[in-house]
Amino acid sequence: MKCRICKREARVSLKSHNTAFCEDCFLAFFGRQVSRAIESQKLFTSDDRILVALSGGKDSLALMLELARQGYAVTGLHLDLGIGQSSRLAREAVENFCQKEHLPLLIKELAREGLAIPRVKEALKRPICSACGSIKRYYFNKVAMDEGFSVLATGHNLDDEVARLFSNTLRWDTCYLGQQSPLLEAEGGFVRKVKPLWRLTEYETANYAFLCNIQTHYAPCPYSAGASFSVLKGLMQRLEHLMPGRKIDFYQGFLKRGRPVFSQLEEKSVTLHPCSHCGYPTSAEDLCQVCRIREQLAQSREP
Ligand code: AMP
Ligand code: FES
Ligand code: ZN
Repeated sequence: MKCRICKREARVSLKSHNTAFCEDCFLAFFGRQVSRAIESQKLFTSDDRILVALSGGKDSLALMLELARQGYAVTGLHLDLGIGQSSRLAREAVENFCQKEHLPLLIKELAREGLAIPRVKEALKRPICSACGSIKRYYFNKVAMDEGFSVLATGHNLDDEVARLFSNTLRWDTCYLGQQSPLLEAEGGFVRKVKPLWRLTEYETANYAFLCNIQTHYAPCPYSAGASFSVLKGLMQRLEHLMPGRKIDFYQGFLKRGRPVFSQLEEKSVTLHPCSHCGYPTSAEDLCQVCRIREQLAQSREP
C-alpha cells in the first residue's frame, strides 16, 4: 500500500479515515489531529502553562511529546502510587522519557502523603479503584493549583471517551452525560482539565509512540479485575471494523448535539464548598473524599 500523500510505501493504515500513511506523513497527520482537537474545543493556547499527567503508558507520553513539539509550555506530573514493582517500572519509564526528551517533570509520591495505594486498599472496605481515582484527581488538581499551572492535561484517547460515553448512555446517566467533555473549565478551586487526544484512537497513539521510539511501561494495575470499559471498547471496536468512522462520528455528534441538551438539564445541580479539613473544593457535606479516606486509614490503625 502507498502513502496517500507522498506515494512512498505506507507504514500505518487507517481504516476509519480510509487511508494509509508513510512514517513522516503519519506523524504530520497525528500533529494535525491534536491541533484540531485543541483548537475546535478551545482547550488552551500557547499562553497557558500546562501540566501533563504522565502514567508511563503510551497515550500520556505521546501527548507530552507532541505538545512539546508543537511549542506548548508543558511539564510532566507523575504520581508514584507505591504499588511495588508495577509503580517502580511506571516511574522509571516516565523519568527516562523526560530525561531523554529534556522535558521538565514533577513527581508526587503517595507514600510520602501517607496514601500508598496498598495501604489504602488494606484499610478500605470498598473497591480500591474508585478511591485510587479520587486520590489521583485530588493530587492532579492540587499540584496544578499549588504550582501555578493553568491547565491539567490527561492522555485519555477517543476509545476511552467513546467507551465512557457508551457506558453513560446505556445507563442514561444524564448527570454524567451533561459533564462529559474533553474540556472541563476551571471552577471554584478546580484547574481547567483537558483531553487533547480525544480525536485519536488507541491504535493511532500506539503507532505514534512506536514511530517516535517512546519506551513505555504498560502493565494492567494488579488491583483492577480487568478494565471496566474493556467489554464496551471491544463492542465499539467491532462496530468500527464493520462501519469505519463510527467512533469519531458518535463522539463528535454527542459534543455538538447531545451534550448541550444534557448539560442544560443538569445545570446548577452541584454546589461546591471547601473541605473543612484541607480546603479542597468538594460537593460533600463536610470532608472531601481524600480526607475521608485519611480518616478511615486512621481508624484502621486504632487498636
Ligand atoms: P487511566 O485511567 O489509567 O487510563 O489513565 C488515564 C490518564 O490519567 C493517563 O493518560 C494519564 O494522563 C493519567 N494518569 C493515570 N495514572 C497516572 C499516574 N500514576 N501519574 C500521572 N498520571 C496518571
Ligand atoms: Fe489505582 Fe489500580 S487501583 S491504578
Ligand atoms: Zn479534604
